[in-house]
Amino acid sequence: MQTKKQMSDRQPPVSAEEQAARRNLLVQDVIERTGITEGMIAELVTRFYARVQQDALLAPIFTRVQDWDDHLARLKNFWSSVVLTTGRYHGQPMRTHLPLPVAGDHFDRWLDLFEKTAREVCPPAAAAHFIDKARRIADSFEMATATQAGRIASPRHIFRS
Ligand code: HEM
Repeated sequence: MQTKKQMSDRQPPVSAEEQAARRNLLVQDVIERTGITEGMIAELVTRFYARVQQDALLAPIFTRVQDWDDHLARLKNFWSSVVLTTGRYHGQPMRTHLPLPVAGDHFDRWLDLFEKTAREVCPPAAAAHFIDKARRIADSFEMATATQAGRIASPRHIFRS
C-alpha cells in the first residue's frame, strides 16, 4: 500500500506535446552549445568511412557493404537522428551488428578512427558530443555482440581518455 507521501510525490502525466517541447529544447541547447549542422555530420561520416575503408583491421568487415552511397546516406541519417533527433533514421543497428565477427580490438579501432576524424572535422564541443554518443553506442554494441558470441564484455569505452 502507498503512503500519503508517495502518492503526493507522483508527477502528473506529461502529454506528448509537452514531451516533444522538452525534447526540442534539449536539441536546441545541443545545437547552440556545439554548432552541429547536417553539413558537419555529412563531412564527418564521409571522412570517417573513407578511413575505415583504408584500415587493415576494419576494411575486411565492411566488404559486405554492397552500396556505399546507400551506407553513407544511412549513416548520415543515423547521426542526424542521434544528435539532432530529426527521426530520419529508420533501422535496427543493434540487429545489424550482432552477427558481425567483431571483438574488442575492432571496437577500439572503430573509436580511434571516429574520434580522430571528429576532432579534425568539428569544433571541440561538437567533437566531444559526437564522441560521447559514439562511445556509449559502441559499448552497447560490444556487450551485445559479445553475449551473442557466448562471451561477456563490460562497458569500457566511456573511460577512454
Ligand atoms: C567494431 C565496430 C563496428 C564495425 C566493424 C561496424 C560495421 C558495420 C557494418 C559492416 C555495417 C553494414 C552492415 C550491412 O550493411 O550488412 C554497419 C552498419 C551500421 N553501423 Fe556499424 N560497425 C561498428 C560500430 C558501429 C558503431 C559504434 C556505430 C554507432 C555509433 C555504428 C553504426 C552503424 C549503423 C547506424 C549502421 C547501419 C545499420 C542499418 O543498416 O540500418 N557502427 N556497421
